[in-house]
Amino acid sequence: MYLTPEEEAIFNGERGATYQKAIEILAALGDIYGADRLIPIKSAQIAGVSYKTIGEAGLEWISDLKGKVAVPSILNPAGMDRECWKEMGVSQDFADKQQKIIRAYEALGVRTECTCTPYSIFDNLAGLGDHVAWSESSAISYANSVIGARTNREGGPSALSAALIGKTPNYGFHLDENRKPDILIRVDAALHNSDYGALGYIVGEMVGDKVPFFKLKSAPSKDELKSLGAAMAASGAVALYHVSGITPEAGKYDPPEEKIMIEQGQIKEVYSSGEPDLIAFGCPHSSVEELVGLARLLDGKKVKKDVWICTSRAIKKKHPELVKQIERSGAKVFCDTCMVVSPASERFNCMMVNSGKAHKYVPNLCGVKSIMATTEECVKAAVRD
Ligand code: F3S
Repeated sequence: MYLTPEEEAIFNGERGATYQKAIEILAALGDIYGADRLIPIKSAQIAGVSYKTIGEAGLEWISDLKGKVAVPSILNPAGMDRECWKEMGVSQDFADKQQKIIRAYEALGVRTECTCTPYSIFDNLAGLGDHVAWSESSAISYANSVIGARTNREGGPSALSAALIGKTPNYGFHLDENRKPDILIRVDAALHNSDYGALGYIVGEMVGDKVPFFKLKSAPSKDELKSLGAAMAASGAVALYHVSGITPEAGKYDPPEEKIMIEQGQIKEVYSSGEPDLIAFGCPHSSVEELVGLARLLDGKKVKKDVWICTSRAIKKKHPELVKQIERSGAKVFCDTCMVVSPASERFNCMMVNSGKAHKYVPNLCGVKSIMATTEECVKAAVRD
């Protein structure tokens, strides 16, 4: 991959070891994937924050870095709510290590709103056609598909390297030719809310890393697209999809010839019932509209089990009355973290979720049985004795 004289100088160590390591990582990726050069990015979203996932080695690596990010950069969820970690049941030792990780990122100039939905709190991170380096799989899918920005599936280290250099190698989803759809998904079902997560759960398993082109019976909301993309990224490796008439780049393409048909019965099969001891919402992090919907469903009720609703701290801070209204039911609104990346969920036996992504990850990453149900059924289970 071609490096400019300025990039060569960084590669040769002229700006110090941190920037040298960062550009080495980018150059190695560029060489592996056949990039011609580095291109400027508008923002970075950096995964690899929870002490549960990166451990001691990750903490040490981040703490040793010296420098500042070159573009707006934001962290993914951590392993705990930074304020209410005791309420979550997180240990002091874990909390201390988690705070160290976050402070180390902060020292590099990374914003520490730990969220997988940064697009819901900042509108200057990514726009149509912008190149970015994001690394949480649902955020990647949303950036590529709903915003129409361009990112590869970055890992935590490559996103951080891109943030430090302000550039990323030009390959994959940064190029027009890799953004065209491969497979048509015709959905013959009336979908609502969590059904999009169930749809994504099914389609991800079927298509792997292809680029699906959806023909749906009705227009999904932004939150429904968020759930669809998150689930496909988890059960498969989908980083970009198009929805006919809805997503910004869908109009550029004809529907592909290869076709899959999805029917209502298949969506229903993803759901089941049972007796969970934790009901968790907010994968990806809940939007204001989703919190309003949950407040309405919980209004006048008392939950009988642990109920977590995960969102970003910015949203929780901005809507204190809404949070109070929800928490009157006994449900807890947690920020900076989620049911998957926090070790606190591991003490439960069975988690009920309304998210296709959480449904895929909870058994593998938390060792907890998972039940997927609609949002309404999750609330019913929460208030049942
Ligand atoms: Fe976000 Fe955690 Fe789900 S990072 S997408 S809430 S697994």
